[in-house]
Amino acid sequence: MRTAAKDQLLMAASLLERTRVGLAFTGAGVSVESGIPHFRGNGGLWTKFDPYKVAHIETFRKNPAEYWTYSLNHRRSDAEPNPAHRALVELERRGLLRAVVTQNTDGLHQKAGSGRVIELHGSSHSVVCLDCEAKFPRDEIDRLNRQHCPPSCPACGGRFLKPTVVLFGEALPEAQLRSAQSLAMAAGVVLVVGSSLQVYPAAGIPRLAREHGADIIIVNAEPTPFDEMAAVVIHGKAGEVLPEIVSRIEADYGASATGNV
Ligand code: APR
Ligand code: ZN
Repeated sequence: MRTAAKDQLLMAASLLERTRVGLAFTGAGVSVESGIPHFRGNGGLWTKFDPYKVAHIETFRKNPAEYWTYSLNHRRSDAEPNPAHRALVELERRGLLRAVVTQNTDGLHQKAGSGRVIELHGSSHSVVCLDCEAKFPRDEIDRLNRQHCPPSCPACGGRFLKPTVVLFGEALPEAQLRSAQSLAMAAGVVLVVGSSLQVYPAAGIPRLAREHGADIIIVNAEPTPFDEMAAVVIHGKAGEVLPEIVSRIEADYGASATGNV
């Protein structure tokens, strides 16, 4: 790893250890090494598809088939957590992270063992009927979708079955946004991982934390608009950088440190 990044790793490790009121804020980049593509920047999905066509509530209502066809070809339901997810679990076990606020809907933080995960953009693991509000496991509806696209509601026959994810043009779940905002205002350090920090109101969470005095650590493959305000910026792969931060903390504090202070 480059010398510059080594100093940044040490700085990130000491900020997390010293502050002990840490918050992780993650985006699609944290799941790329699990085989789930990100959206913006090099090779992102939105460089290949028009998000308005495949991820906006208005187009969904006009033509749910387009959404479900795209989903058939792009959903990675067998994805597994990668070393970045596991490193965040270790930081939480050590009492250095209060929670993970994520923009991702893949459920990989929970699958890795993170205890408190706030999903700002919902979850792709369940589906809701916009007509009768019945909810179903996503795998059940994916099975129906493979037989007949778009799937219709098993309860009422309605044609608007939608994964419980926040599409463009939809509001974020109020309770999750409020929890993320109060965690941000109380945080001493925010570890931003794998986000282009371009989509609001989610991208307002690290900004709010900064405005309340938190230090920002950014681990991202490419520059972000927040790099200037960050105490630490490491451009690299989350699955490589986060375990490096954890091993520096282990080197300083031993393998057994837990969250009890
Ligand atoms: N490690 C770290 N960063 C990575 C990696 C990696 N292995 N691979 C890609 N990245 C970076 C990309 O360079 C990009 O800057 O992760 C960032 C992901 O940014 P986006 O694709 O914009 O994802 P995100 O910030 O989560 O988008 C927010 O936009 O489309 C909506 O609802 C969608 O939740 C999403 C929201
Ligand atoms: Zn229904």
